[in-house]
Amino acid sequence: MALIENVPRDSFSSRIGVIAAAAGSAIGLGNIWRFPYVAGENGGGAFLLIYFGFIVLIGVPVMLSEFVIGRSTQSNPVGAFKRLAPKSFWPLTGFLGISAAFFILSFYTTVSGWTLEYLFLAFKDGFAGKDVTTLSAEFDAFRTNGLRPLIWQNIFMVFTAFIVFKGIKNGIEKYTKILMPLLLVIIIILGIRSVTLPGASEGLLFLFNPDFSKITGKVILEALGQSFFSLSIGMGTLITYGSYIGKKENLGKTALSVSAADTLIAILAGVAIFPAVFAFGIAPEAGAGLVFITLPMIFDQMAGGYFFALIFFLLLSIAALTSTISVLEVVVAYLSEELKLGRKKATLLAASTIALLGVACTMSQGPWSILSIGKYNLFDLLELISANVMLPLGGLLIVLFVGWFMAKDKIFAELANNGKLSAGFRYVYLFIIRFLAPVAIAFVFLHGLGIFGFFGSGDL
Ligand code: TRP
Repeated sequence: MALIENVPRDSFSSRIGVIAAAAGSAIGLGNIWRFPYVAGENGGGAFLLIYFGFIVLIGVPVMLSEFVIGRSTQSNPVGAFKRLAPKSFWPLTGFLGISAAFFILSFYTTVSGWTLEYLFLAFKDGFAGKDVTTLSAEFDAFRTNGLRPLIWQNIFMVFTAFIVFKGIKNGIEKYTKILMPLLLVIIIILGIRSVTLPGASEGLLFLFNPDFSKITGKVILEALGQSFFSLSIGMGTLITYGSYIGKKENLGKTALSVSAADTLIAILAGVAIFPAVFAFGIAPEAGAGLVFITLPMIFDQMAGGYFFALIFFLLLSIAALTSTISVLEVVVAYLSEELKLGRKKATLLAASTIALLGVACTMSQGPWSILSIGKYNLFDLLELISANVMLPLGGLLIVLFVGWFMAKDKIFAELANNGKLSAGFRYVYLFIIRFLAPVAIAFVFLHGLGIFGFFGSGDL
């Protein structure tokens, strides 16, 4: 115990480091894999517009609230609520986040495993000469195979655990700074290739031309869930990262830059994917396999495709890794600080228990398809419940907590670094987290759930 208290708490070492790590958490499979397929299933342009609205009005304020809680307490999500509201039910919000971390990591590492397989395939033959039918048949065969995706998933979990094992400063900070900009360049190049394919304009129209008749309660809830998922908010990841942010950093600016970078990458991913989807005659509602089928098609069609395929899947794996570490870190910070386990033990315990749920998730895609409710297997259920239920609920509790239970002076001091910054936005922020965000989240949530007929026979 004394030993733990004598070791100074790990933290980020620079401003760029904070942004790279937080953007590294936000930018991941959520932007490149999930965003295009969820947008595709929910009508394209109309979804994008609502998604964007949620990012600005709710996402940024929730992110800022997480930073405020984290930095002011220097603690993991459970410990943070314990410090700010001892002997209350608020720490349960932290536990909700810890459970969400389990759910998210188990399906996220399944998909991360897929990216490793595709990295391997890209290396082998760069998808040469394969048409849509072959690519989608091969994707399905792989996904439902059992053993092969399982091996990749666990390799990925080992990488994740290895980095978390090492702590905050050493590693993540250094290479996210170099790799995230590289990802941006690759996505721009892919976007350019995609929009210059014959028949591409239909895809751009689908993405940017909102058809308001497509908007339903489900679409709105999916947009909210996706905005939370993509920004890494609602489960305490950014409370945890916030606790490692230095006292001199401008939290408002950080939240804004991270959200802007995240949104930009999602839109660029949409621009890279939808024109190709339409050009090659794939249904935009193709679901979770969308990027694994369309992007190999584009690579096969472009000059230097072999090289770009390789680089792309490499960077996608890295983007996924900088996100998985941020999720695992939440559980590890909790175990090591609250249960005094020590970082190494905590990492082993968290990674191995999550890996077990991860196995069930991957196997539910094929061999264990018995693990399903209606048309949703365990993988789908964990994805839908974490993004569309747990994150909005967590986000709601977080804004209610900061808005109504934290002292106003304390919030303002955190936003303005004790008077060193002007933080002119503070009243707007306070208004949003007290009224606008909670009402909007609660409304979207209840409305969306009603339409879903959750746990019933509805179409979730
Ligand atoms: N935001 C990441 C992505 O878009 C995933 C992620 C990392 C996440 N940490 C999170 C999602 C915390 C929700 C909560 O891929």
